[in-house]
Amino acid sequence: MARVFITGSADGLGKMAAQLLVEQGHSVVLHGRNDGRGREAMKSIPGAESVVIGDLSSIRETRSVADQVNALGTFDAVIHNAGVGYRQPRRVASEDGLHDEFAVNTLAPYILTALIQKPKRLVYLSSMLHQQGDESLKDLAWKERPWQGQQAYSDTKLHDVLLAFAIARHWPDVLSNAVEPGWVATKMGGAAATDDLDQGHRTQVWLAVSDDPAAKVTGEYFYHMRRRTPNPATREVELQEKLLDACRRFSGVELLR
Ligand SMILES: NC(=O)c1ccc[n+]([C@@H]2O[C@H](COP(=O)([O-])OP(=O)(O)OC[C@H]3O[C@@H](n4cnc5c(N)ncnc54)[C@H](OP(=O)(O)O)[C@@H]3O)[C@@H](O)[C@H]2O)c1
Repeated sequence: MARVFITGSADGLGKMAAQLLVEQGHSVVLHGRNDGRGREAMKSIPGAESVVIGDLSSIRETRSVADQVNALGTFDAVIHNAGVGYRQPRRVASEDGLHDEFAVNTLAPYILTALIQKPKRLVYLSSMLHQQGDESLKDLAWKERPWQGQQAYSDTKLHDVLLAFAIARHWPDVLSNAVEPGWVATKMGGAAATDDLDQGHRTQVWLAVSDDPAAKVTGEYFYHMRRRTPNPATREVELQEKLLDACRRFSGVELLR
């Protein structure tokens, strides 16, 4: 039995992953953005161990999430699942002056990775759209450019792969991988999504807990339990380091490297 923490588990793929892990007999700690969402998460997954609370668009609250997780002890795996955006019509500023997609999708996984006691495995939710992410890493807060919702989201999903691969390189004792779940009909994906929803959560669960040798790898990118070739830029060490440096500057949180 493994102990797994999943961000953004009140809905969508995070909730589905939590449900499957509980069904498989694992111990699962959920996460909701506020008390109400936390209660709803616990109600919808009765077998879950507990829930931690915090809005991941806020650096302060994300730090608190890490504290709450550490107070519960150590974990075998953390699934960085919470996400926002995809086609937001306007830039939504976070309380720290960033935009909420960067704050939730990029900076929060960085902060949580840095501050939560090292688990054995880390899984980062990316997207096929990371292939179109901006490799320059310029203007990460989207303060200098006219807003483009899909581009902003794609950028953050590129960041998630860079983060997964940077951690795989810096922490050889941890299995760190990225997942593309497919375009599936969750709140984020929308009703028009064409991929199989029932496959959307399985790869991250497999990477988090399976003893299958194919799941016990690090620094890889997966789609439906198979390796897929990520944007080649994600393999560039310099780019990975540039992202880590930017996240350190924005958050004030140092990652052990
Ligand atoms: N669905 C797709 O087609 C698709 C495709 C590629 C990648 N992905 C990725 O898969 C992951 C899960 O997406 P999903 O489709 O399951 O989306 P979803 O149904 O919208 O669920 C997202 C989860 O993240 C939580 N969340 C969002 N902003 C938050 C914040 N500021 N603080 C705390 N929690 C927050 C949400 O909380 P609430 O429920 O309270 O809003 C929800 O539990 C994301 O990383 C996404 O980028 C999804």
